[in-house]
Amino acid sequence: MSKALEGYRILDFTHVQSGPTCTQLLAWFGADVIKVERAGEGDATRGQLRDIPDVDSLYFTMLNHNKRSITVDTKKPKGREVLETLIKHCDVLVENFAPGALDRMGFTWERIHELNPRMVVASVKGFGPGKYQDCKVYENVAQCAGGSASTSGFDDGPPMVTGAQIGDSGTGLHLALGILAALLQRHNSGRGQKVLAPMQDAVLNLCRVKLRDQQRLERTGTMHEYPQYPDGTFGEAVPRAGNASGGGQPGSILKCKGWETDPNAYIYFITQAAVWPAVCKVIGEEGWITDEAYATPAARLLHLKPIFARIEKWTMTKHKLEAMEILNAYDIPCGPILSMKEIAEDASLRESGTIVEVDHPTRGRYLTVGNPIKMSDSPTQVKRSPLLGEHTVEVLAQLGYSQSQIEALREERVI
Ligand code: COA
Repeated sequence: MSKALEGYRILDFTHVQSGPTCTQLLAWFGADVIKVERAGEGDATRGQLRDIPDVDSLYFTMLNHNKRSITVDTKKPKGREVLETLIKHCDVLVENFAPGALDRMGFTWERIHELNPRMVVASVKGFGPGKYQDCKVYENVAQCAGGSASTSGFDDGPPMVTGAQIGDSGTGLHLALGILAALLQRHNSGRGQKVLAPMQDAVLNLCRVKLRDQQRLERTGTMHEYPQYPDGTFGEAVPRAGNASGGGQPGSILKCKGWETDPNAYIYFITQAAVWPAVCKVIGEEGWITDEAYATPAARLLHLKPIFARIEKWTMTKHKLEAMEILNAYDIPCGPILSMKEIAEDASLRESGTIVEVDHPTRGRYLTVGNPIKMSDSPTQVKRSPLLGEHTVEVLAQLGYSQSQIEALREERVI
């Protein structure tokens, strides 16, 4: 079966996490992704967080599937020539170097556009234009600057970063979408364009609902679905809401059977208005269906703490998966807190190809996350990440380099 992006060639000049997330997705959609790395060391993540000596780390292997790797020293004139040839050959250049690095290498937008007017040049940077535009940025910096940290955690604790890599992988996703839109526009315009996804902006986009709440707070001075209501006070900025849903349907994380010893024996419980009578029946509080202190969503907002305390008395008598089964029968939305160990063993995720086992020549078999986007006419087959420079000769030959030219590049330590 053909693939959605078959025939598209991506010059993957990315490293670490944000850029590689983007190009891995493009590879899964069928594009030929050629990862350009520095000879000798390659992407720094190959050697970071290693669990097996001298073997590409899981950090690297899990972010670089289905790509080809070529080593080129782009700071040497002959290396720059190779990059120029690749620019002419590819549809998209993706990079996430520190601001200015590509320009310093001699590849300004103007130069790339001159070499290949159809090329889309896509970049991740920490910040967009402005006073922080020159800063180097990693995941947690973006989470802090994009509004996630100030709105995560508990009200009586410090700001908190999340485990989900919304700054890196989240920005990579945004960039992939921008690239696809630019390729579609190129069909009509015939021209490539610059695509920029700043990490701060991408995190803010994912924190959109918190900027919504900021404006609600400024207008009304309160927010009834936040845990600070009705007894606490609100300041000038959106407060941290702990595990409250913060949305239109109150929710909370509640203990389940075994919580004393199992750190993940919890369930997220949502008291959706439509199923309130069912919630009351399940927990044995049928009187609450008509009691005016609990009967309407507005009345319940005044009593959320005692309501969830009472529901928790019930959830503490059930294993989290048992509770989920009982609640699902009533269409009561809930979610067990699954550990990474449980997720790794999840039969449905394995069946759907979202959890995949992959063979690697030096690492052996390892577990990874496959393509979370499922397409009926473009199925994903997850292939192992490339070894450093594994495809250098193959790609150079495709670009028209002769065997003796390739040898000369090797002798001059360009590749
Ligand atoms: N041959 C020769 N030199 C190469 C090369 C190659 N194939 N590939 C990269 N380089 C050089 C670059 O030219 C640059 O050199 P310069 O600083 O002399 O101009 C250098 O390697 C890359 O530097 P940099 O991007 O600054 O790497 P770093 O490890 O110091 O910083 C980041 C890492 C992530 C902080 C930085 O790249 C960054 O801020 N990126 C944008 C935001 C981002 O994506 N952050 C999230 C990462 S998950």
